[in-house]
Amino acid sequence: MKIFIDTAIIKEIEWAEERGLLDGITTNPSLLSRADRKLGEVINDILKLIKDRPVSIELVSQNVDEIIEEARTVSKLAKNVVVKVPMTDEGMMAVQYLEKKGIHTNVTLVFSAAQALLAAKSGATFISIFMGRLDDIKQSGIEVVRESVQIMRQYEFQSNILAASIRSVSHVEECALAGADVATIPFKVLVQMYRHDLTDKGIKKFLEDWEKVPK
Ligand code: E4P
Repeated sequence: MKIFIDTAIIKEIEWAEERGLLDGITTNPSLLSRADRKLGEVINDILKLIKDRPVSIELVSQNVDEIIEEARTVSKLAKNVVVKVPMTDEGMMAVQYLEKKGIHTNVTLVFSAAQALLAAKSGATFISIFMGRLDDIKQSGIEVVRESVQIMRQYEFQSNILAASIRSVSHVEECALAGADVATIPFKVLVQMYRHDLTDKGIKKFLEDWEKVPK
């Protein structure tokens, strides 16, 4: 499973890159607003840092022509830009056009296997399933990831299932087991993945016992 970081904060991207963890980046308007810097500067910095792996940038247009126009502009920023298009009727028409023109898309805000099927039939490169937001409304995010992965395999679609809206280490484990192609993980969860109480306790005990070894 590929690991993307779900952030627009440069320090967090650098942290993941230093650890050799990064297969790509996803951003969205909420994450960009949290970066608290001018849009152009943040995007520029991200694209300077990551030149050879996908960087998803969300479009804000809502109708086909405007989505295509915005996608053209945004995709010119760098070769590795992937445009995020929301899962709507007009969005999927734009995705079909853009993919045919060689502009890679990430269909975002996907909450059901039916939506994933439509995104795949439209030729999306990535299909972002929002696990956490489904769990928030007492539906199962992992179930939608599982079903969508199965549909992609069964019909040999080329789209990559991207588990998004990840809130916990368990979410990462679950989507890896479900066969998701990508998980886009927030910085906080990436840090937590290294940790286990028993690892900390074990290190402490080994260091204490090391002191008792006659040397
Ligand atoms: C995915 O690309 C989105 O940026 C993200 O995972 C949304 O997560 P949230 O539900 O925590 O906002």
